[in-house]
Amino acid sequence: MTRSIIDPILILAVSLLAVSGTPTDELKPIRREVYEGGKIFDISHRYTPEMPAWESTQGMVNFLRLAASMKNGSVANVSEMKFSVHSGTHIDAPGHFIDEYYDAGFDTDSLDLRTLNGPALLVDVPRDKNITAEVMESLHIPRGVRRVLFRTVNTDKRLMFKKEFDSSFAGFMTDGAKWLVENTDIKLVGLDYLSFAAFEESPATHKVILKGRDIIPVEALKLDGVEVGTYSLHCLPLRLVGAEGAPTRCILIK
Ligand SMILES: *[C@@H]1O[C@H](CO)[C@@H](O)[C@H](O)[C@H]1NC(C)=O
Ligand SMILES: *[C@@H]1O[C@H](CO)[C@@H](O)[C@H](O)[C@H]1NC(C)=O
Ligand SMILES: *[C@@H]1O[C@H](CO)[C@@H](O)[C@H](O)[C@H]1NC(C)=O
Repeated sequence: MTRSIIDPILILAVSLLAVSGTPTDELKPIRREVYEGGKIFDISHRYTPEMPAWESTQGMVNFLRLAASMKNGSVANVSEMKFSVHSGTHIDAPGHFIDEYYDAGFDTDSLDLRTLNGPALLVDVPRDKNITAEVMESLHIPRGVRRVLFRTVNTDKRLMFKKEFDSSFAGFMTDGAKWLVENTDIKLVGLDYLSFAAFEESPATHKVILKGRDIIPVEALKLDGVEVGTYSLHCLPLRLVGAEGAPTRCILIK
């Protein structure tokens, strides 16, 4: 009788140790990209001062500051942050490029969690082109697929790890976005740099995707080291009422 009680407790204790490290570990946090050899992938970027910011050569700079510090006599360390809501891994709400939607309150709090969570396909796109209608057609994404993460040359070039903003990043061209709206069931569009839309046609491309208020762009995803295929995607953006964008944590579960 005791065995049947002890065993689950032992198993729990062992698995807790596996997660948290042994109690004798030195005081050092564990930072992971992948869990359990590929069960969970963290596809969000770390917010760091060196991370690129839109049209900036300086990166995120001093976005985080210690407003109260124990070393200076405060009872706790309290940090404050200040940055564009379109920084790092983030989502766009319909109000981002359509003012009428902004005024009507289509903010990050209005986004559908069912769109942001569910089966997703990770695909590699041709490295020598932006995502045009022709490229979209060539990917043969089946009808019924609702979430697609498009890995581009941006990942190969490690653009999200370079401080200086690079406007030549790969992304959707307006005709590619139109093709997606008209010929697929995709409601979540994930890309691997600060905008899903190529720099050159950015406003027009955003409008095409945001117009129906049913497609959510997820930008600046960290897609290196993950195999092409189907995963369970989980994105949970902050509920920023009145904001047209929000930082989000995204993970893939195999
Ligand atoms: C609190 O802030 C100080 C800087 O004043 C820093 O050295 C220390 O690591 C912080 N402690 C914690 C627990 O974050
Ligand atoms: C502590 O206070 C001093 C003096 O006001 C200031 O120069 C310093 O930056 C503060 N340090 C932190 C970590 O807040
Ligand atoms: C994609 O478009 C950008 C302009 O937005 C351009 O600079 C870049 O060269 C294009 N990339 C490719 C692979 O054609």
